[in-house]
Amino acid sequence: MKPAFYVTTPIYYVNDVPHIGHAYTTVAADVLARYKRMMGFDVYFLTGSDEHGQKVEKAATTAGETPLELADRVVKRFQALWERLEISNTDFIRTTQERHKKGVVHIFSDIMEKGDIYLGEYEDWYCTPCETFWTETQLIEDRCPDCNRPVEKLKEESYFFRMSKYQEALLAHIEANPEFIQPKSKRNEIISFVKEGLRDLSVSRTTFTWGIPVPGNEKHVIYVWFDALTNYMSALGYPNQTTEYERFWPANVHLIGKDILRFHAVYWPTFLMAAGLPLPEKVFAHGWWTVEGQKMSKSLQNVVEPNMLIDKYGVDVVRYFLLREVPFGLDGDFSHTALVQRLNSDLANDLGNLLSRSTAMAVKYFDGVLPAPEALTEIDTALKQKTEEMLTTVNGCLDDLAFSKALQAIWEVVSAGNKYIDESAPWVLAKDPAQRGRLATVMYCLLESQRIVHTLVSAFMPGTAAKALQSLGCGGEIDKTGLVWGGLQAGCTITKAEALFPRIES
Ligand code: MSP
Repeated sequence: MKPAFYVTTPIYYVNDVPHIGHAYTTVAADVLARYKRMMGFDVYFLTGSDEHGQKVEKAATTAGETPLELADRVVKRFQALWERLEISNTDFIRTTQERHKKGVVHIFSDIMEKGDIYLGEYEDWYCTPCETFWTETQLIEDRCPDCNRPVEKLKEESYFFRMSKYQEALLAHIEANPEFIQPKSKRNEIISFVKEGLRDLSVSRTTFTWGIPVPGNEKHVIYVWFDALTNYMSALGYPNQTTEYERFWPANVHLIGKDILRFHAVYWPTFLMAAGLPLPEKVFAHGWWTVEGQKMSKSLQNVVEPNMLIDKYGVDVVRYFLLREVPFGLDGDFSHTALVQRLNSDLANDLGNLLSRSTAMAVKYFDGVLPAPEALTEIDTALKQKTEEMLTTVNGCLDDLAFSKALQAIWEVVSAGNKYIDESAPWVLAKDPAQRGRLATVMYCLLESQRIVHTLVSAFMPGTAAKALQSLGCGGEIDKTGLVWGGLQAGCTITKAEALFPRIES
C-alpha cells in the first residue's frame, strides 16, 4: 500500500476576497502535494473556508446579507481562484457544512465530559478583528498587540478550556520533537510564550450568534478558533472512524502564515491532548508579503489580486515567482519589477530557451527522431551526475519546505544544460559525418537531462512541464519512474518547443 501524506492550508475567512497572501500558502501546499503524489504517496490535500465568527457576521451586516449568503458568494471566489491556479486539492471544507459542525460539537463535548472545558466568567480586552482576548499587560499602548487596533472591555459568561493544565505536556512535546514547529526561530518564540505560562482559554462567546452553538447551552457559540482548527479532522470524517480519518490523521504538515502560529502550535495541540488524540507532525509558519515595500492593506489600496497577476503574466509565472523569490519562512516583498525580472531571466532565458534550442537541434540534425546514445564521455557523465544529484537535493529541500532552494537546485541543472551545449558545440559536430554518433550522444544527454528537470518542474509549474514533456515525446502520467536517467527512448519523436515564456519588456 502507498504511504499516506496529509497536507493542509489554513481555511480562509470569507469576509475578505483572496489575495496573494492566501495564494501563497495554497500554492506551496499544492507543490508539496504534487511532489509527494509523484513520489508515490497517497496524498490528502485539504483547503477550505472559515465562515463563522463575529468578523464574518459584521461583514455580512455591512453588505446587507446574511452571513451564509456572504459566505456562499465569497467562497466561490476562492474556489474559482484555486481552479485557475491549478490547485490539486483533494477536498474543500466549509465550516458551515454539517460534517464539520458534527466534528466540532463532538470534540467540544468530549473535552467537556473529560472535565477540561468548564463554565466561568470572563472580563478582558477584546480585539474584534483578531477575535482575541488580551490581558491588560499584553496590550501595547492600550491597543491590540497584533494589529494595533483599539480593543474593548468585555465581560461575559464563558466556557473555558483548561489550557494551563497542558503547559508542561506541550513543552515536553515541543522539546522532544524538534520538527514539530518550524522554522526554528518561530519554534523558539513559541517556547518562550509557553514558558511564560498558559492561562485557561475562553472557548465560547455570548455577544453574537453566528457560530456553532455550545452543546447543551445555546446561549453560547463556540469560539471561532476552536471551531476552525477542528476542520483538519472533520474533513476526514472525525468523529467517525472513517477510512480517511484512520489513514490520514494525524496530518503530516499544517502550512500556515506566521500570524496564526500560536493558534496552531499552542491551542490546537492542547485541544488534541485534552481529547486524547494524536498531534500533527509538523506546523510550518511562512513569512508575510509586503507590496513594493509596504504592508498590504485595503486602506492603502495595494492589495495584490492573484487573478490580475494570472491575466497579466500567466499562472505558472505566478506560481514560480511566489515560491522562488523568498525563502519559505522569511518575509518577502512583492513587486512587478522583481516578477518581470524572474520571468525574463529564470523562465524565458534559462528554462524556456534551453528547451527550444535543444529541441530545435534535435529536429534539425535528426528530423526529430531521437537517436540512441553511444558511450558517455566525461562531460556527458558530469551532466548525468548533476541531474541525478539534483533529485536528492530537491527531495531534501521539499522535506524541509525549502521551496526556493529546491528551485535553485533545479536551475543549476538548467544552467549546466546551457553550458553543456556551449562545450559540446553540436553545430560543429553536425558538420562532420564522422561525428554523427557523438552528436547523437550529445542530443540524447541534453534532452534526457531536461526531461528529468521538467518532471520535477511539474510539481511547481504543471502546465509548463506538460508542454515541455510533450515536445520531448513523453507526455502523459508523471510518476517517480520518470526521475530515472534513461527514460527517453531512442526513436521517440521530438518536436520543436515553442517559447515556454515570452519575455516581457519592463
Ligand atoms: N481563518 C483563519 C485561519 C484558520 S485555520 C484553522 C485566518 N484566515 S485568513 O484568511 O485571515 O488568513 C489566512 C492566511 O493568509 C494566514 O495564514 C495568513 O498568514 C495568510 N496571509 C494573510 N496576509 C498575508 C500576507 N500579506 N502575506 C502572506 N500571507 C498572508 O487567519
